[in-house]
Amino acid sequence: MGKPGAGLSGVDLLRAAFGIASSRVFGRHRPLFVNIEPTHRCNLSCTYCDKHDGPQMTTEEGVRMVHEVADAGGVSVCFDGGEPLVHPGIGDMVRAGRERGLAVAISTNGLLVPRRIDDVAAAHVMKISVDGAQEIHDRARGPGAFERAIEGARVARDRGIWVALRMTIAEHNVRAHRDVLAIAAQLGIEALFQPAIGSLFDAEQHRAAHSPHVAAYRETIDDLIELKRRGAPVANELVALDHLRAWPDPKPVPFCSGGRVMAAIGPDGGVFPCGRVGRGEPAPNAFRDGVARAFAATLRPTDCASCWCSLTVANNYAYRLDPRLLAGRLGRRGAGVDLAAIDLPEAGLVELRGRRTR
Ligand SMILES: C[S@@+](CC[C@H](N)C(=O)[O-])C[C@H]1O[C@@H](n2cnc3c(N)ncnc32)[C@H](O)[C@@H]1O
Ligand code: SF4
Ligand code: SF4
Repeated sequence: MGKPGAGLSGVDLLRAAFGIASSRVFGRHRPLFVNIEPTHRCNLSCTYCDKHDGPQMTTEEGVRMVHEVADAGGVSVCFDGGEPLVHPGIGDMVRAGRERGLAVAISTNGLLVPRRIDDVAAAHVMKISVDGAQEIHDRARGPGAFERAIEGARVARDRGIWVALRMTIAEHNVRAHRDVLAIAAQLGIEALFQPAIGSLFDAEQHRAAHSPHVAAYRETIDDLIELKRRGAPVANELVALDHLRAWPDPKPVPFCSGGRVMAAIGPDGGVFPCGRVGRGEPAPNAFRDGVARAFAATLRPTDCASCWCSLTVANNYAYRLDPRLLAGRLGRRGAGVDLAAIDLPEAGLVELRGRRTR
């Protein structure tokens, strides 16, 4: 699956570095890292999410977006949602990405992975939402969601996809991060963490009733930093955890990559600097104008202090060429770590034992 110069995530590191440097030094901005949202529909309606109902692009539009991202110099696409696996054409979009040499990632709740694995097996990376052990996960995501998400993670991992769990830390699950780490470790994968903000359509809504208690959240981030230092499979970089710890107090990133090397394309073709900003305003449209022209007209935020998405934060520190990011990436990764040595609780492991595998 890999190719020379490509990291585990499938990203062509040389092209990515060259594209970032061109953007930073010469102001030659190109859509290198693009989130495509094929649909805002979803097969769940999680209590803290406001992006599970709405428009859906056609398969032809989705495939065209992938080709146009590649034509515009793109390095990676990530299919997000809503739930991208409810889109009947997700397989065509994933395959188009691979055919064009892009790194392909999918953000999913995992439920449909076993059923649709042949469609998505070509993806390099899959982020599967897991918010705690079974009872806690299902409390916000609905009965049966945990078991199917874990099964999806196993199936994807066994097909050679690089899988990471993603925990959204909310009011109901704020102390469940060690369970998520224990589950990730048992699966031999890593886990990402981020706070539940007020609205996915407006990053400036930092908090809502479903958000975690601030002190408990910050204790969680401190614990994650400590556990990562001790070898736990925390996928967020240390510099990103340090940034996320500030939530919900506004904290600008040193350089925003949105509209410069990163973009999000919504299900109606709207192009935004990232998934969470610019949604309420008129936006350039990639269906109407093509990806390259729409990207050139996209908002380029300069004073955004609301970067709370697990991976976007890290991308922005990479865009800054932050040496601490490199240090984190050269460090020990979590898969295969001896959990006994880092004193994680057993709860997640107990939940998983006895679960059927196919
Ligand atoms: C919108 S979902 C789309 C992909 C897929 N449906 C899933 O659940 O993973 C992407 C991520 O956003 C997270 N999310 C949903 N509502 C959120 C909120 N209010 N604040 C922060 N993250 C949120 C989800 O937990 C998930 O990890
Ligand atoms: S978080 Fe994902 S699975 Fe849950 S309702 Fe939102 S889009 Fe659907
Ligand atoms: S700082 Fe983060 S949240 Fe704000 S526009 Fe840039 S990428 Fe988006």
